[in-house]
Amino acid sequence: IGIAADGDGALEFLPVAPNNLDELVVPTGDDYAYSVVMRWGDPVLAGAPAFDPLNQTAAAQAAQFGYNCDYVAVLPYSRDGDTGLLVVNHEYTDEQMMFPGVATAAATNDEQKRIAMMAHGISVVKIERVGRHGQWQRSADRSVNRRITASTPFVVDGPAAGSDYLKTSADPTGRRVLGTLNNCAGGITPWGTTLHGEENFNQYFGASTTVQDPERRLSRYGIATSGLSSRRWEQVDPRFDLAKEPNEPNRFGWVVEVDPTNPSAPPVKHTALGRIKHEGATISIAADGRVVAYTGDDERFDYIYKFVSRNKYRAGRSAADRAHNMTLLSEGDLYVAQFTGDSPKSELNGNANGQGTLPSDGEFDGGGHWIPLVLNGQSMVPGKSVEWVLTFTRLAADRLGKQLDANGDPVLAGGAEIIVDATKVPTKMDRPEDIEPNPVTGRVYAALTNNSNRTVAQVDEANPLGRSYAFNATTGADTLQSGNRNGHVLEWEEAGNDHAALTFSWRIFLVAGDPSRPESYFAGYDKSKVSPISCPDNVAFDPHGNLWISTDGNSLSFVNQAEGTTGLLGGNDGLFAVPVQGPERGHLKQFLTVPRGAETCGPFITWDGDSVFVAVQHPGEYGGATFDRPVSSWPDRSATRPFPRPSVCVVYKTRGDKR
Ligand code: FEO
Ligand code: CA
Ligand code: CA
Ligand code: CA
Repeated sequence: IGIAADGDGALEFLPVAPNNLDELVVPTGDDYAYSVVMRWGDPVLAGAPAFDPLNQTAAAQAAQFGYNCDYVAVLPYSRDGDTGLLVVNHEYTDEQMMFPGVATAAATNDEQKRIAMMAHGISVVKIERVGRHGQWQRSADRSVNRRITASTPFVVDGPAAGSDYLKTSADPTGRRVLGTLNNCAGGITPWGTTLHGEENFNQYFGASTTVQDPERRLSRYGIATSGLSSRRWEQVDPRFDLAKEPNEPNRFGWVVEVDPTNPSAPPVKHTALGRIKHEGATISIAADGRVVAYTGDDERFDYIYKFVSRNKYRAGRSAADRAHNMTLLSEGDLYVAQFTGDSPKSELNGNANGQGTLPSDGEFDGGGHWIPLVLNGQSMVPGKSVEWVLTFTRLAADRLGKQLDANGDPVLAGGAEIIVDATKVPTKMDRPEDIEPNPVTGRVYAALTNNSNRTVAQVDEANPLGRSYAFNATTGADTLQSGNRNGHVLEWEEAGNDHAALTFSWRIFLVAGDPSRPESYFAGYDKSKVSPISCPDNVAFDPHGNLWISTDGNSLSFVNQAEGTTGLLGGNDGLFAVPVQGPERGHLKQFLTVPRGAETCGPFITWDGDSVFVAVQHPGEYGGATFDRPVSSWPDRSATRPFPRPSVCVVYKTRGDKR
């Protein structure tokens, strides 16, 4: 039973059709509805002032719900399950849509820059069930609420804590960092804390004078060695100026752990999980009780990682057990994935001709293994320390399987690195986003959102698209273009279904795209019955183990018959659900679409299956839209405040089913 599934778990809702409406559209029928739970500017802390966007202050924003909500978790708070703690990431800010008269983030005044800093981070908000069904609202009790921002004190733990790479003039210990930035996806741990990835932290750092870049420590993470940052935060806080604090960027790019039940506990940055553009992190418990965290590095041609704790999970409910479990992410082994295909390269044509690419064995599939970066407390990169491997994890992964000199740096031949052990070279993926194990089957699912740069020559069986159909602004329709434009979803099972295993078997579950094109693939299901999907980003599961996928950046064309417009904003992004086992495996259906210009985040399906929480991130973020000239008025529909507000919503049923 639940909002989307009937008693045996089959998805019963009618799919939402592609559209470009400025609305959150839920399945048809009078029994589905949504309500807004938290909007940008809504009060979080006790005493928070009312939202006054024309007179906003940093102090007000620090007590209010932040901007651009991304990851969503709900933790049951009371025993009856009728109150919960809503935990939400605020990934980044759109200054041109937050402030009147501001055309770009660079054009903000100093107070607006400080407001933007306070609009980043994480919110914890007590919520309560409304009535008999799956609707929720924010509670009047704000005593347990919390805002974490760009200035909240964090503790750094794990092997790289206190290393020279993390020391700054403000923190000579290398163990205390202010703030968290660009928190994208996340996960709930079995001990009731939440994990949050620090993703595109590179964009916050500028350089007032040109700085050096030894080993490509900056450029490998996309950090420029000269020029000001887009938001100019370095003009109000010198720690964002590389010329003044060269190590400050090393203090971001970690997995963060928050205890939502303890508003005064400093959140922790776990260096043992490595420093990458962490999309998020999700936890499983291995057969022997160690905990395993899967985490993706969201960049074109970057890698998928897995952390395995040294110590074991305690299932007890005592405070001592919980305190023990909260140390598990502080020490362990870090691995990176190699995916090996089982079909010959000659059968992988990268969709070169637009005729589809399934190899003769009928699947993109194969085996794989986890290559250690840190094992038993030792660096697996000769010449480099554990601290170095964990702080410059991308550089470390790049060195695996390569010929290195005495310093641990690659030996080049004709400008190219020399591979000495191909079995140790990790696989360059098509932007690994959210990775989550299915709590019912144990299989792991990874969203690979797209990779516009992959060429036909660069395809492998796990990333098999070098060309794909996507919207073409000139023709107003989809045309065959370079790269993997719509993304795909990988599925794997660890050997023995043990998350600590070092080998796995994998297959592509979904090649996203237009079902009418040969290249798209829905686990072999009848493509005439599925919804089109593009750019999978976040994944989640309902209590039946159905996979839910939210999208970011729909690349497919969409023709609005009513308006006579073609391809305006593409089709909107949305949320999809699909069974992963049984006869309905692959029957993907669209559950909702989000308003114009938004990406769909979260999602979170409650433990009872009655509620689907979804974050509507950056509604109206499109072209030259600004606060004064918005393209979305969702959700307020206000004549005097016509701008959009990023918001967390809950979708529920108004009749039928339970309670
Ligand atoms: Fe913030 Fe990878 O999406
Ligand atoms: Ca194959
Ligand atoms: Ca994301
Ligand atoms: Ca994304």
